[in-house]
Amino acid sequence: MAKTQKSVFFCQNCGHESSKWMGQCPACHEWNTFAEEKVVSTKGSSARKAASLSKNVPTRIRDISLSQDARYTTGSKELDRVLGGGIVHGSLILIGGDPGIGKSTLLLQTCRNLAAQGRKVLYISGEESLQQIRMRAERIGESPESLFLLAETNLGEIRETIEREKPDVCIIDSVQTMYSEDVTSAPGSVSQVREATAVFLMLSKALGISIFLVGHVTKDGAVAGPRVLEHMVDTVLYFEGDRHASYRILRAAKNRFGSTNEIGVFEMRDTGLAEVPNPSEYMLSGKPEGASGSVVSCSMEGTRPVLLEIQALIIKTSFGMPRRTAVGTDYNRVNMLMAVLERRCGVSLSSCDAYINIAGGIRMNEPAVDLGIALAIVSGYRDIPIGDRVIAFGEVGLSGEVRSVSQAAQRVQEAAKLGFENILLPRSSAKSVKAPAGVTLCPVGTLREAIGAVFGNAVRS
Ligand code: TYD
Ligand code: MG
Repeated sequence: MAKTQKSVFFCQNCGHESSKWMGQCPACHEWNTFAEEKVVSTKGSSARKAASLSKNVPTRIRDISLSQDARYTTGSKELDRVLGGGIVHGSLILIGGDPGIGKSTLLLQTCRNLAAQGRKVLYISGEESLQQIRMRAERIGESPESLFLLAETNLGEIRETIEREKPDVCIIDSVQTMYSEDVTSAPGSVSQVREATAVFLMLSKALGISIFLVGHVTKDGAVAGPRVLEHMVDTVLYFEGDRHASYRILRAAKNRFGSTNEIGVFEMRDTGLAEVPNPSEYMLSGKPEGASGSVVSCSMEGTRPVLLEIQALIIKTSFGMPRRTAVGTDYNRVNMLMAVLERRCGVSLSSCDAYINIAGGIRMNEPAVDLGIALAIVSGYRDIPIGDRVIAFGEVGLSGEVRSVSQAAQRVQEAAKLGFENILLPRSSAKSVKAPAGVTLCPVGTLREAIGAVFGNAVRS
């Protein structure tokens, strides 16, 4: 086999390739992330084999069979939703997330569910011993018969095992611990991670096995992160959440078989991850009664409306420049809303510090929460609480107008379900919405009008 060896530098953060070392990566602008890797290319490279999967004969699109049961459920409604309705046969799914967030737990639970459906599942771990996985499985519940474990990191061995055992589903925990003997660089480096992913891609497509890859997200550049692999796999899911809080959110960053808007919400308990079927209730569970600067708004996460509490703390700047902080939402958007409030509604915020927080640690960037943020700022500034049964949503424009949002009726339904009685919404969206029993709709055209409706007096600076 003809071997050529050359030395190249890879950004360990984004996978950018360069022939010389650089201090800053020109692609992702991270500093000090370049590492030298020896690349040996042999004719028999598995990546190249993967490319020659089809038999070189073009097929008519009509002649390709559409199997009815192309998807099967994972046994978890939340995971199914994020995947676009279940696992597609022969798909390659990457799950990224910080260490300790619960990736292994989620996948082990999924394995249990799949094995309980009678599917053959192979869980390959390069990080934990079989005893450790068994111990975790004990916490989650009893283990079904068709769940097999393997502790292995050698890619060649893993490939042989998968080809021999032919499981329906295979888990690789994690892709960064796998190494191929054909590649000289250390496990976790860009070349190794790419090689491993190419092998799993080939296996999943050739044998119709659905493979989940676990990838750690790292910022220090020690190990190549999932960013490097995003373009190679079918679906990229990120598991996020505050390690100190118990809920976790699963988001799709890329999905060839479904929408990327959906989120799955889980709660980490001492018996594993539990699904949270109604995230709104969960998000509002700690809401203080009668506190100023607290407003409930509604954001659409895919097809599901999620209610959330926006908190604003506004205090006089004691020294120099006013300080603005936004946690869980876009900082620039908060600055823009403050400018609109100052200019269009006469609320003088230029000498105030503002701290905005979406309670619960969730990140929401939908413009529909603008009205909620603006009202929270006014409530915080005046130190007047907004009624507990009030909810506000709508996009705020630069002239202070409240613009329409999508799926207003669904948001109103969700708010009514959780007992909200007064709903502020854009006038243009209100036309298409019928108020449910016991709910008063309050359509507003401008931010000024909304402030008037909530606080009684139109403007007081
Ligand atoms: P883990 O799945 O090992 O994380 P990852 O694979 O993403 O690195 O999850 C580890 C954390 O989850 C650990 O801090 C303990 C916690 N945990 C629970 O709270 N309850 C449980 O039942 C399990 C299995 C883990
Ligand atoms: Mg793990």
